[in-house]
Amino acid sequence: MNLIKKLLEPHLRKPKPSDENALGFGRFFSDHIYKMNYTVEKGWHDSRVEPYGPLLLDPAALVLHYGQEVFEGLKAYRGQDGGIYMFRPRTNIERMNRSCARLCIPQLPVDEVLEHMFEFVRVEMDWIPRANGTSLYVRPTIIATEACLGVKVSHEYLFYIIVGPVGAYYPEGFNPVKIYVEEKYVRAAPGGLGEAKTSANYAAGLLPAEEAHAKGFTQVLWLDACDRKTIEEVSTSNICFVIDGEVVTAPLGGTILPGVTRDSALTICRHWGIPVSERRLTIDEVIAAQKDGRLREAFGTGTAAVISPVGSITYQGQDFAVGNGKTGELSRKLYDELTGIQLGTRPDPFGWVVKLA
Ligand code: COI
Repeated sequence: MNLIKKLLEPHLRKPKPSDENALGFGRFFSDHIYKMNYTVEKGWHDSRVEPYGPLLLDPAALVLHYGQEVFEGLKAYRGQDGGIYMFRPRTNIERMNRSCARLCIPQLPVDEVLEHMFEFVRVEMDWIPRANGTSLYVRPTIIATEACLGVKVSHEYLFYIIVGPVGAYYPEGFNPVKIYVEEKYVRAAPGGLGEAKTSANYAAGLLPAEEAHAKGFTQVLWLDACDRKTIEEVSTSNICFVIDGEVVTAPLGGTILPGVTRDSALTICRHWGIPVSERRLTIDEVIAAQKDGRLREAFGTGTAAVISPVGSITYQGQDFAVGNGKTGELSRKLYDELTGIQLGTRPDPFGWVVKLA
């Protein structure tokens, strides 16, 4: 499949954000969009880059009514040598295909998608910011576009990729966040959509997040849907606890997102000789460890959030400080290592980085 490029004349392109230290997350979008369509007759076809703009969708498009949609999140970086890099892009596109399988969306041709995504990022490379802690966020998305109000699997899809410069996901930046342990609402139940990267999982978290924000918290920590005891993840990332010198995180049991940053952080820890355990961990165990000083750190892991230190956990109305509310040593080391690998300033022993230009 060829990639067709219909690019804007340079004088029609948008000005770049003036302050790269105030980008926030997901507010700026580049000049172009990548698109590809699917029909049963043609499969995936018409791979193209065109000017960024609103989508034309039938109001009866299945995605708008029954949520047949999947997405991904990756980043492109400008390295110290001026080169353009992406981090584990194949892992994301392969995960997208697993999300597709759960949502009855046809599989993507991985090699072709990667090649076209790289070419699209090259087209938009002037949008990659240079300031410390910034990157170009890449958001591949698939939506069901067939017009039909019957509850059914769509026969038509649009795959698109948008990109834009981002800074830190949380307003706190790399400072520790306050987390509220959610006991009323749940994100995903066994057998549900929890391990797929699909909008429904994020929609389920909106009301709990609003309620938590109103109480002054940055994020909610999800417990399992059955007995509200086992730790799952945070709405925007996976979560790890450092207890008795061991990094403990929830196993990939079907209800949590198989995070690429989660896997990268665990791989680096193992490489450093730090014990890692992917096992069932209850909130009671975390609170007990905090009380007798064995809980040293907690941190979120996500593409958008990178490594996000947790400063306090609030459970049943009580606040429990983590690491005296300060960024932990391992959180800092992991952040430096991961971003170092991503920017090409540290060795890449696992072959995670792809050079695009
Ligand atoms: C990412 O980390 O890339 C995500 O997709 C999470 C989203 C909540 C921003």
